[in-house]
Parts: sequence; structure tokens; C-alpha cells
Amino acid sequence: MPDRPWWQTGVIYQIAVPSFADSNGDGWGDLRGIIERLDHLAGTDSSLGIDAIWLSPINVTPFGDFGYDVADYRTIDPRFGTMADLQDLLVACHDRGVRVMMDLVLNHTSEAHPWFTQSRSSRDNHKRDWYVWRDGRPHRRPPNEWLAVVEGSAWQYDHATGQYYYHAFLPFQPDLNWRNPEVRHEMLDVARFWLEKGVDGFRLDLVNFLYEDERLRDNPRRRFAVRPYLAQRHVHDASQPESLKAAADLRRVADEFSERALMGEVFTDRPEDCVAYLGDGADRLHLSFYLEFVRQRWSAEGFRNAVQWLEDHLPGCGWPCYYLDNHDLVRSYTRLGGWSADARARVAATMLLTLRGTPIVYYGQELGMVQSRIPRGRMRDPVGRRFWPLPVGRDGARTPMQWSGDTGAGFSTAEPWLPVDRSYRKRNVAIEDADPGSLLSWYRQLLRARRDHPALREGSLRMIGGAPRHVFAYTRECEVERMAVLLNFSGCEKVVRLPEATRSWSPLLSTAGRAQPCGSACTLAPHEALILEVCSRSAWVPTAPVSGPSRLARCRRA
Ligand code: NOJ
Repeated sequence: MPDRPWWQTGVIYQIAVPSFADSNGDGWGDLRGIIERLDHLAGTDSSLGIDAIWLSPINVTPFGDFGYDVADYRTIDPRFGTMADLQDLLVACHDRGVRVMMDLVLNHTSEAHPWFTQSRSSRDNHKRDWYVWRDGRPHRRPPNEWLAVVEGSAWQYDHATGQYYYHAFLPFQPDLNWRNPEVRHEMLDVARFWLEKGVDGFRLDLVNFLYEDERLRDNPRRRFAVRPYLAQRHVHDASQPESLKAAADLRRVADEFSERALMGEVFTDRPEDCVAYLGDGADRLHLSFYLEFVRQRWSAEGFRNAVQWLEDHLPGCGWPCYYLDNHDLVRSYTRLGGWSADARARVAATMLLTLRGTPIVYYGQELGMVQSRIPRGRMRDPVGRRFWPLPVGRDGARTPMQWSGDTGAGFSTAEPWLPVDRSYRKRNVAIEDADPGSLLSWYRQLLRARRDHPALREGSLRMIGGAPRHVFAYTRECEVERMAVLLNFSGCEKVVRLPEATRSWSPLLSTAGRAQPCGSACTLAPHEALILEVCSRSAWVPTAPVSGPSRLARCRRA
């Protein structure tokens, strides 16, 4: 199956650029820093062996929201480097077979963007309609009841011109008006600009927020919710049909180039929306984020149900995409970890890297970096600062990469923009590199297994029925091989009955160091993650039809 696209077979590694590696000693991670650290990612025998990197936003920005407040879409922020640095990064990555994806923030700009400066300057400025401006209602009430994702009304009153502008996120991130054809044209052109530079694709920020209801209808209310935003059903301010059309337009731009991929952040509590952005698999986005997966607690049943839902609802040619960590989430090592964090991190990694779909690994996840506690005075995230002391800030997941036990964790020789987590002396690349029993070594083994075994990369997925409570068990199967993945989420031994079509399974990888083959049943050690393969080809009768691959082969032919 050699012609399967890279965004299906590959593993994507998310790099928070400000926090990965600082090459020039100013305390900020930068593009040159990434080039210097590429050996960690790919190209050598001891590399992780990832296939693509996704860079957090690198455009010119006041950095009010981690770069998700863009002030110039066609220039790189000097703290991250120059266009020449990006070109060098592209060459260095492509030489190693690594693709480079950028974050594209299409929904809103920074209030410091010259477009917005012009737009807010007067009601008849030619850029006025590039943003969403409306009159308020009587008694100084905003145009409608829509709420910003973070808090409060989504409308901000602007004294200069006596109108409100709309912002789905923070007040300094005014929403662009995608109903204006000039805006649509410009933003598609921005995408084209970076694709022409050789970028392999984009992660599309808040792609289902591009359009709002033209008539500004209020959202229906929910009766019970833990916070006001969740008390509205976001049927008019998000996931509008026009945003799907924008996704299709973006796909057409991507398809002007070869082998480019679009991965959408579909921010919603309706999993159907995630699937909708894949269209029929060829007419919208290549990948879209599935939040049901990441919202699970430590529960085998929860993850199994989430995966099964997606398998059942994906369009014919759609392809899943899974992640457990990113720059907005409490790091999974802390979030899911509990008292057995290290053991659970291995189970979680095994699940992430063996499910059918494209996995995304967040920098430091492979080391077991924890959610850091950031002193109030060092906080950068506006959400964390606004709601302090509530632990909702996102800085704790964005601390510098822990390369070594040296001062600054090998990230920078200067004071880093966010403090290094104090775990760095014990938990870092240098130490874990040298330890075959480390989490980093486990990640490497899993990634190697993915490379060596087409069933794990491309095969169909079937749940193993009758697995005991707290066990998530499935098979992966393609024309040439069959594997089973057994994940014990509990601290007790569990007996799993293996599928009958096979007589003998041999361990490929086991966190319990298992060496003996299993027969028809297998006793899992507490928190064991186990990958089995069929011992001999003759012992295995394929359970035809093999739904995943053949379905995809049909899609490719079409
Ligand atoms: C989603 C991004 O992941 C988050 O970090 C950002 O704050 C918002 N979009 C606003 O752009």
C-alpha cells in the first residue's frame, strides 16, 4: 500500500515554537532552534521517527494569545526568525522526510493588525466591513446575546465610532468578516502564499467559527451548565454551513499544490461537526480534530466508545485524527496520570500510536512533561491571568522543552519567556535518551513498530468483544498482517480472550516485558500495554473483507 498519503500514515509532532529550542539566547524558542534539534525528531537511528511537524503560529504578533493574534500574515515574527530561517527549516525537514505544517489563524486577527486599525478608524473606511461591526441595542446592550468562548459578551463597544465589533475569542482578537468577498479572497491568498513557500499544510485555528449567522439570531439556551458559555447551544455563532464552504475553498487551494494537507480545529461539543468538516474525504479538510477523544477521563470504556463513535460515523473516505495533548490542555501526564502516571502514560501512548488514524504528539509528551505551576507574576496566558487563582491557565502546558539537566534545561542560556518546570533535572531528553526503560524509549519503540507494521499504520480496526472492564482491546489488520492491542487501564490483572481466528499471538511490545506467546487468552499485568502479532502467517485467516484499507483503496480510485 505504498501510495497512501503521508497525512494518513504519518505521525505529527506539534511544536510550540516559543518553547522548543532557543538558538540565539534571547529566551524565546525559534526556527533555528528547531533546525538544531531535528535529530531528536527524525533522521537518525535514535530519533523519535516522526513524519511531520506542526508549528504554533509564527506570524508577526503582539503575542497577547500565544501568537493566535496575528498582526501580519505574510511575515514571520522576528522573535521566531526570518523567512530565510523558515526556508532553511523546510529544506532541513524535507531532507529528513519530515513535512512542515503551519498554524493558520483565519477567524480573527490581532487588534494591532493594520486592517483593524483602519477598520476601527471610521465607519466609512474601506476596511470597515472587513470585521463584524453592528449597532448596539437600546440601553447600551450589545447587538445580541452571543458570548465569547472565554467569557462575557462577544461584542466589544468601540467609542471612536460608537459601534460594537464581534470577537468569538478575546476582545483583542476581532473576528474577520468572511462574508466580505475581499476578506475571503485575501485569506485564501494567505494560504496560497505559504504553500508557495513550500509549507506542507496547515492546522486551521477555529475553522468552524469563520461565519456567524447573518441575522445574528440568539442561540437557544440550555437549562444547566457549569459556565455561561456552555449555557447556550452554539447553533448560530458557530458551525454555520458557510464555514463548511470555506473549508471546501481552502481544500481547493491546497489541491493546487501536490501532497498538502489541512487539519481543522473544529471547536464544538457536537462530534457530528468534526465529521462534517471531512466532507466525503476529498472535498473538505483532510483531518479534523475530534474533541470527544481528548475530553475522556482515564477510562477504557470512555476511550473505546469515543473511538467506536468515530469509526461508525466517519464518511467513507474520512480518516481519524487523535491527540491527547496540545497547547490548550492540561498535559495528559498530569491530567490522566493519577498515582500511576508513568504507567498510564505508556498505556496512553500505546493507544494514541496504535489506533487507526493520524496521531499528534505534543512536544515533551514523549518525556512525560508534567503540567507546570506558573507563579502568578510569570503568567503569560490571558485566560490564566484573568481567572487566577482558578487553575484554567494554559501556560503550564507551554513551558520550555526539557532537553537536559543543565541550567535552563538546555532550552536557552537566557531567562526563558516562561519558567522551566522544576522536574527538568530528572525528566529530560538527555537522561531518558540513555535509559532503555524511559518513557522516551517507549515512544521510540512504538514509533518504530508503526513504521515496521503496515497493520498499525493503515489497517482496519476492530474492537475485541467481551474484553473485561477497564481494558481497551482491538485488532489492527491489513492484507499482510494482523496485530492485537491490549490496554489495561487498571491496577489489577485482567484476562482477555483473544479473537478465535488466530491460534497463537507473539508479543511485539509489552510494558511488562512479556516474552512468551499467548494462546486463546492472555493475562495482562496491571497497567500493561501489550501489542501482539500473529506468530505465523499460516495460523492466520484474514477476517475478510478488510474494511479500512479496501474502503480507502476505493476512495483513491474514485
Ligand atoms: C484555539 C487555539 O488553540 C487557542 O490557543 C487560541 O487561544 C484560540 N484558538 C484563539 O485563537
